[in-house]
Amino acid sequence: MPSFLAICPKGLSEVLEKEIQGLGIPSTQKIAAGVFFDTNWEGCYKVNLHSRIASRVVKPVLDFPAYNGDDIYNNVLQHDFTKYISPDQTLKVDAAVKECAIHDQRFLAMKVKDAIVDQFREKYGRRPDVDNQRPALRIIIQGRKNEFHLSVDTSGDALYMRGYRLEAGDAPLKENLAAALLAMAEWDKQSPVIDPLCGSGTILIEAAMMAMNIAPGSLRNRFGFMSMIGFEKDKWEAVVEEAISQEKTELPYLFYGSDIDRKVLKMAKDNARRAGVDHVIEFKPGPVATCEPQVPAGLVVTNPPYGVRLGDEENVRDIYKDLSYTLKNRFKGWNAWILSGNKDLITDLKLKATRRHFTYNGPIECRFLKYEMF
Ligand SMILES: C[S@@+](CC[C@H](N)C(=O)[O-])C[C@H]1O[C@@H](n2cnc3c(N)ncnc32)[C@H](O)[C@@H]1O
Repeated sequence: MPSFLAICPKGLSEVLEKEIQGLGIPSTQKIAAGVFFDTNWEGCYKVNLHSRIASRVVKPVLDFPAYNGDDIYNNVLQHDFTKYISPDQTLKVDAAVKECAIHDQRFLAMKVKDAIVDQFREKYGRRPDVDNQRPALRIIIQGRKNEFHLSVDTSGDALYMRGYRLEAGDAPLKENLAAALLAMAEWDKQSPVIDPLCGSGTILIEAAMMAMNIAPGSLRNRFGFMSMIGFEKDKWEAVVEEAISQEKTELPYLFYGSDIDRKVLKMAKDNARRAGVDHVIEFKPGPVATCEPQVPAGLVVTNPPYGVRLGDEENVRDIYKDLSYTLKNRFKGWNAWILSGNKDLITDLKLKATRRHFTYNGPIECRFLKYEMF
């Protein structure tokens, strides 16, 4: 069994695999929504701190078929969970099932929890309590077609919760999706990025953090692995020290964001300040219809509204027309990448895409399309 699994939204495992290999972990295997990788705990700390694309990192410990509660209970007993926490700490079980004889996920979670706490009772005469908010040990069990996969979480809060985004406007992108878009666009990390519908600034803040080598986990003070028995604090501190030593403080170019909504731009500025990148991003209010490049060359990466709410589509259609007009007339020679969850609106751009990726923004299937403006 591979030692760890980095989980990501569907469509992102290719760029996630490259990212993990880039962290010096060559032994990887990608699946639809994640990447298995072989490393030691220090490598796990490193991926948790540095992965911009993973949603979380887990340690797979059991795979088994099961058709009833006893099957679950007996299989869970095969792994020793007392090695992760003491009986005075807390735990939580997250369960999900699809097309299984066991269809109640609360029942599944209860059976897993029962087996684990019975191991503690037998060894210590007492058991960990359940904490649904901030458990020391989070167990994840997923069943599909009666095959179950059980893992131990190492991340705690999801890794896209970097800590800089305390406020956001409507439909913000998750931070790891924004980072994955920049990776899929093969942005060179050496040229300006413009987002003319920047909302709370996620794409630009992620780009600036990448360019300045600021580790995405550097603002967090807690990861799941820290509360486990055997946490090697000195190794973690060395991983953090190394990351800090590689941070840049300045860049020879800037990032540019605009949005029609002044309130959301204020949030973007505050988010950028918390991320430590406000000095390299210029935010300016304005409609996409009048947006102009501030520099001769760079990359446009943007995420216009999709018009998913009833009645929104007509308003949103005009935004796509304005975006198309601006790109055709003012961004000649530039490449633009657009993420949209609305096929019809994309057609309205009347531009020919030269590359395409499919991914998910939450539950919405999206296209991420490249346009070369001549
Ligand atoms: C889907 S949101 C972008 C979210 C952003 N990527 C984030 O992570 O926060 C679309 C943004 O387009 C902006 N917008 C709508 N119409 C616009 C227009 N005509 N010109 C410029 N921005 C516009 C909205 O204010 C909103 O912030």
